[in-house]
Amino acid sequence: MTNMKTVKLMLAASAALIISAGAVSLAHAQDLPPLAKKDHYKVGFAQSESNNPWRIAETKSFQDTAPKCGWDLVATDAASSAAKQVADVDSMIAQGVDAIFLPPREEKPLLPAVLRAKKAGIPVFLVDRSVDANVAKAGRDYVTFLGSDFIDQGHRAADWLIKATGGKAKIIELEGTTGSSPANDRKKGFDDAVAKESGMTILASQSGDFARDKGRQVMETLLQAHPDVTAVYAHNDEMAIGAIQALEAAGRKPGKDVIIASIDGTRDAMQAIIDGKLGVTVESSPFFGPLSCETMKRYAAGEKIEPWVKVSDRIFTIDNAAASIAGAY
Ligand code: AHR
Repeated sequence: MTNMKTVKLMLAASAALIISAGAVSLAHAQDLPPLAKKDHYKVGFAQSESNNPWRIAETKSFQDTAPKCGWDLVATDAASSAAKQVADVDSMIAQGVDAIFLPPREEKPLLPAVLRAKKAGIPVFLVDRSVDANVAKAGRDYVTFLGSDFIDQGHRAADWLIKATGGKAKIIELEGTTGSSPANDRKKGFDDAVAKESGMTILASQSGDFARDKGRQVMETLLQAHPDVTAVYAHNDEMAIGAIQALEAAGRKPGKDVIIASIDGTRDAMQAIIDGKLGVTVESSPFFGPLSCETMKRYAAGEKIEPWVKVSDRIFTIDNAAASIAGAY
């Protein structure tokens, strides 16, 4: 009996040990990888694509920042493929970079790569786009998200459009890349705001993949199905320019009989505002290099980084487009 008691006690003790060891390793698993304070770092930047001015400006911002921040930059281009972007991150892990900056093309497919980088002891900073917040968390799975408030951008585009149309519009919405955080959030921000206005109707909403030509093609098709359209909301400037082309080809007058709202602040969009074809573009800055450098330095210094390093955005209309175009990309 005594022996039995001893065995039971020993079992209980070892179970407690296993549980506490598990707790320790779990707690450890939740720690972010540290980053040593150094003068030089090998830094990965895994771009999603380079098919529009915004992406090109973002990559250039990282390239321009690299020598100033002591980065030996490993930059890749996933050419609009989430699978290639995953492979690019995996290759950076294999190369043993010190840190990775990642704009995940879509919210879900990049998650495993983010977790693999963490497991390999490489801190990941999400820039411009985010991953599924229900699965991965800043401060646990990656250091932080540096970027704009996309919901607010959609909301501001809606507010402008409601005002410009007197609260009466039949809208075609051109969505960004399906499954990407800006497409999801810009849609939510806009749709929620116009839903409160009885005179604002969304006739159709379809993805143009954030690309000019795709935006033009989708607009051409939707225009045939909805010739009564009076407004367009495009999730980015490239698709807005594509929509302008489609409207003009169909003999419509963008800016007059069809009012257009968009997001980004590219040079072509500013020019379209000056030309009276685009009504508004809510800024979404691509210039993440300097902010990334500063945030990485803070992290290396041991500072606790906030989960969202928020970028604040301006709004461009006929009131300020001419004065702002010189700084556009
Ligand atoms: O993630 C930001 C969006 O991605 C920009 O609005 C768009 O132009 C880019 O492709």
